[in-house]
Order: sequence, then structure tokens, then C-alpha cells
Amino acid sequence: MRVAVIGSSGQLGTDLVKAFSSSHEVIALTHRDIEVADPGSCARLKELAPDAVINTAAFHKTDQCEDEPLKAFQVNAIGARNVALACRDIGAIAAFISTDYVFDGKSRLPYLESDPPSPINAYGISKLAGELFTRQNERHYVFRVASLFGSAGASGKGGNFVEAMIAKARKGETISVIDDIRMSPTYTRDAAAAISALIEKKAPFGTYHVTNSGECSWFEFAAAIFEALGLKVPLGAASSSTYPTKARRPAYSALSSNKLGRWGIEMPRWKDALRRYLEEKGHLKPLSVA
Ligand SMILES: NC(=O)c1ccc[n+]([C@@H]2O[C@H](COP(=O)([O-])OP(=O)(O)OC[C@H]3O[C@@H](n4cnc5c(N)ncnc54)[C@H](OP(=O)(O)O)[C@@H]3O)[C@@H](O)[C@H]2O)c1
Repeated sequence: MRVAVIGSSGQLGTDLVKAFSSSHEVIALTHRDIEVADPGSCARLKELAPDAVINTAAFHKTDQCEDEPLKAFQVNAIGARNVALACRDIGAIAAFISTDYVFDGKSRLPYLESDPPSPINAYGISKLAGELFTRQNERHYVFRVASLFGSAGASGKGGNFVEAMIAKARKGETISVIDDIRMSPTYTRDAAAAISALIEKKAPFGTYHVTNSGECSWFEFAAAIFEALGLKVPLGAASSSTYPTKARRPAYSALSSNKLGRWGIEMPRWKDALRRYLEEKGHLKPLSVA
């Protein structure tokens, strides 16, 4: 298969390129190569003639999306449309990377693909519009991921939560992390492996949740990072009301990836994923096998 990855230098894009490269021809497209908001630029996809296009491009600074909803829609919604329609013209699969932020957070059980989305911020609304536009190409996948950490770090956000926590600990700062927002931390290497496997297995087109299994609060995630590193860090639990943000965030956005099990894909637990990430980044020595 010829697979084009848009946003190939991003956090998830980097691991998608690696995951597909082992058995497919990959066309890696950085932001310099393609502008998803520009239909003319997306027309290039037709010349490249891929069998599948994975669109990871996003404007995902959640608070900034509140100030710049037009840009959020240009990239996350119209961008998705441009890619999906260019794919449709050449019979290619369009795969759109979406988010747990399409949900409102009122659930207390991991969200299923069949749960109705009801986003509460401009970012989530623009990504949901992107999902709907992607569905205009019948040969589509929507992969919802969440709270990503990967070795490349999010270029759109300037790193990831794990590295931010480690940097704070190194500075000897007292750290306070919110304990009333729960989510599914997800290692981009695991998400990329699942996405490539689903496409290879020709799973039916549609929407799939792709997160590491389990859930935690951001405080619990931070505590697990320091525990894995054997660091004694002064860590406090805070309420999200202590850190008001421009965008409202769902208080609960864990996703169930159980649907992947139908195609033999089991997502590893997030703590296991965290350990492997820390090893990949050289923060941890690999466990020696006796
Ligand atoms: N990070 C998270 O925690 C998280 C959570 C849920 C869902 N998601 C979704 O997962 C996807 C991947 O996230 P990520 O963390 O890998 O993000 P990332 O590291 O910021 O990667 C996004 C990539 O897309 C490129 N890009 C941005 N705007 C573009 C545009 N208009 N046209 C073409 N390329 C563009 C970026 O290039 P430049 O940096 O050079 O502009 C970057 O290489 C996104 O769709 C995001 O909405 C992320």
C-alpha cells in the first residue's frame, strides 16, 4: 500500500511513519509539503496517488482555539474536508485523527464510539466538524486519540505532559496537578501500531477509539511518572478551578478502545505504555532480563 501521512513530523505522525514503513511505501508530508486548509495544496495528494491518507494535522492549542475559532475551523474542519474530498476523487482511504474532546465529559464510564458527541469547546466542535466532513468520503476512518505522549513531542503544543513534569522536577519545583479531570493517557507508538494494524486488517470503515487502556487523573498520571522514575517530588493535587482556562474541558474523557478487540488488537495499559515511553526517551534503563 502507498500511505501518505500528513503532519509526518508531529508527535503521532512520526510514529505513524515508523509503523507503516515496515511493510508499506510511506509518503511523509510535513506542513512545508502540504497545507490542509488550502484545497489547491491538497490537490497534490491526487498526483501522489496514495491508497490511504492519514491526516494528523491540527490546530490543537485548546485555549487558543477559543480566540481563533476561524483558524480552528480552517485547519480542523475545512482541512479535513479538503483531504477527504481529494481522497474521494482518487478512491483513496481518508483517515482523520480526532479527539476525546468531542465529548462533553458528563459520563463516568469510558466513552464508546456509539456515544453521541457533544463538544464543549471550539477545538472539540471544529474536530467534530472534521469528523463529519471526513465521513463524506465513504472510504473513511475516524480515529479518536487522547492525551498523547510520544518521543517527538507535540509540535503544536511544544512538548508533552510527561516531559513537562520531568522538566519541573529537575528544576526542583513544587508541583501541583489537577485531580478532577480524568482521561486515557496514550503513547503515540501504541496508537500508531493500532491504527496501522486496523488499516492493514481492512477493518470496516467508521469510527474507532484508539487509546491506551485504563484511565487516570492528570495528578495520578504525574504521580505515576515520578514513581516510575523513582523521583521523590513534592506533588500536590489541585482542583481545575485553581487553574481557570479559557476553554472548558470535559471533566471525564476516558475512551473505551474495546472495539479494536474485534480485530485482535488489545491496547496496552497506560502505565505499561508510560514505562516503555520513558525507556524510549532514555529516562529509564530497560529492565534487564535474568
Ligand atoms: N496531542 C494530544 O494530546 C492530542 C489529544 C487528542 C487528539 N489529538 C489529535 O491528534 C493529532 C496529532 O496530534 P499531535 O500531538 O501529534 O500533534 P502535533 O505534534 O502538533 O502534530 C501535528 C502535525 O501537523 C502539522 N500541521 C499543523 N497544521 C497543519 C496544516 N494546517 N496543514 C498541514 N500540516 C499541519 C504540524 O506541523 P507544524 O508543527 O510544522 O505546523 C505537525 O507536524 C491531531 O489531529 C490532534 O487534534 C492530539
